[in-house]
Amino acid sequence: DPEKMEKIVSLCKRRGFIFQAGELYGGLNGCWDYGPLGAELKRNLKDYWWRKTVQERDDVLGMDGSILTMQQVLKASGHLDGFSDPMSDCLLSKARLRADQVPEQDGTAVWYSGAELQDTGWSVQREFAVLVPEGKDPAASKKVARQFYAQFMPDKKVSPKELVLNEEKQEVLKGTTRFNPDNGSLLTEPKDFNLMFQTKMGASADDNDPNAIAFLRPETAQSIFVQYKNIHDSNRIKLPFGIAQVGKSFRNEINPRNYTFRSREFEQMEVEFFCHPDDGMRLTDEWLETRLCFYEEIGIPREKLHILDVPDGERAHYSKKTYDIEYEFPFGIQELEGVAYRTDYDLGKHQKGSGRPLEYFDEETKERFIPHVVEPSAGCDRTVLALICEAFEEEEITNEKGKTETRNVMHFSPKVAPIKVGIFPLLKKNEEQVRIARDIQKTLQPWMTVFYDEGGAVGRRYRRQDEVGTPFCVTIDFDTLGENGEDLKGTVTVRHRDSMEQERLPIDGLLAWLLERIR
Ligand code: GAP
Repeated sequence: DPEKMEKIVSLCKRRGFIFQAGELYGGLNGCWDYGPLGAELKRNLKDYWWRKTVQERDDVLGMDGSILTMQQVLKASGHLDGFSDPMSDCLLSKARLRADQVPEQDGTAVWYSGAELQDTGWSVQREFAVLVPEGKDPAASKKVARQFYAQFMPDKKVSPKELVLNEEKQEVLKGTTRFNPDNGSLLTEPKDFNLMFQTKMGASADDNDPNAIAFLRPETAQSIFVQYKNIHDSNRIKLPFGIAQVGKSFRNEINPRNYTFRSREFEQMEVEFFCHPDDGMRLTDEWLETRLCFYEEIGIPREKLHILDVPDGERAHYSKKTYDIEYEFPFGIQELEGVAYRTDYDLGKHQKGSGRPLEYFDEETKERFIPHVVEPSAGCDRTVLALICEAFEEEEITNEKGKTETRNVMHFSPKVAPIKVGIFPLLKKNEEQVRIARDIQKTLQPWMTVFYDEGGAVGRRYRRQDEVGTPFCVTIDFDTLGENGEDLKGTVTVRHRDSMEQERLPIDGLLAWLLERIR
């Protein structure tokens, strides 16, 4: 549903959830900045994850590792040699695409040569191919070829007459060749492209000095494995136990796409849960269930989640079991999180790489072994995007005057909603209403995000809060002042975002009433 996605992207910009990084200068591809509301939403998600995963459990400890990572760590983990995606170059447009994102299609590759005028004044012959779909006459492709050439190489002046169809060189391709459907051009054989960002540390003059090379981490997991022993030893904790981390990771994705879904800089929320080999399979299933409950609690219903039990041959070679938790995004069903049983692969690799023992000794059974790992690894930005997509609705409603209108509403769960409560004095000219409203604001602010608004008709103020997903709005009116009788004095109207229903509550009980609903 591309239309829905467009509406979501535009609302997110208009109301300050998400902007493209560097937008003022044309934008940095694959990087995003969260505005005031987006930052609150993301923080709420991370805080809730931390509370549920670390603070409310006895068997998970937290850590916060550095982003810059030693080459030796990533050599041992396998990232240096193996963390890559297959990449194809488009011969015509010079675009680079992730090979698995290019559909395969049958057809005939028809080769052309064209005399291309260089800046030096010389012309060179360039060869390129166009794919003619099955059943179409290759000769009819000349017009298309000319258009492609003009579109993708506008600076290389080639006259249409100089485009020569090579009758000899035609190849029937059967579902094996990568073809770019946007422009009909062929793509080269996929090559491996390493996704890690490399940087230099310190002032060493030697480019090959391994101590002078560092990487931005491609996942938070590696610092957990590297610190496993320190955390175990400093906390005197027994297996099974987990180490959790939330933080930035970086991947030089070939084609960042689908808004924030695939970015080059993103945040992960990961647990590495260490256990005895006999418990790995059981704990993988347990973690899957725990994580599904988590999504439900933050407002992503179970029926919108799909569990992919990744089949043999498609899992990483060391993984005995992997579940992908997928969500029905408007652009398709896509992965939110992976829950993987990684066996003793990671600690085994780091024991070998560092030459330091990472075995666990069980005092009771006198057994010595390398702990196995179950890893629930979630994407923070992807979950924020899922929350936004799930919350967004253009709802047909009947307004106060009996007319149908559309209201934009974000049905965020109160737990994650960026603003928890709107506070409105009915009349901004009424000093007593304003004073009480400001008092309520001051009382609530240490506990939650509050938005004070005194501008315009109250209905309009409700709509503005609906659009950003504020679950409750509190209005201070003449009843609050006791102008319509003593029994309503000291009470306010609380309006519910989803049902639009209103109820009267005493100011004294407001904080407790709200806290119960937003935790
Ligand atoms: N430690 C395991 C690991 O990193 P992964 O499947 O590569 O596994 C885990 O990543 C999660 O991180 C994904 O399910 C996704 O939510 C998030 N993620 C990965 N690459 C991402 C990207 N380029 N942009 C946004 N999120 C990404």
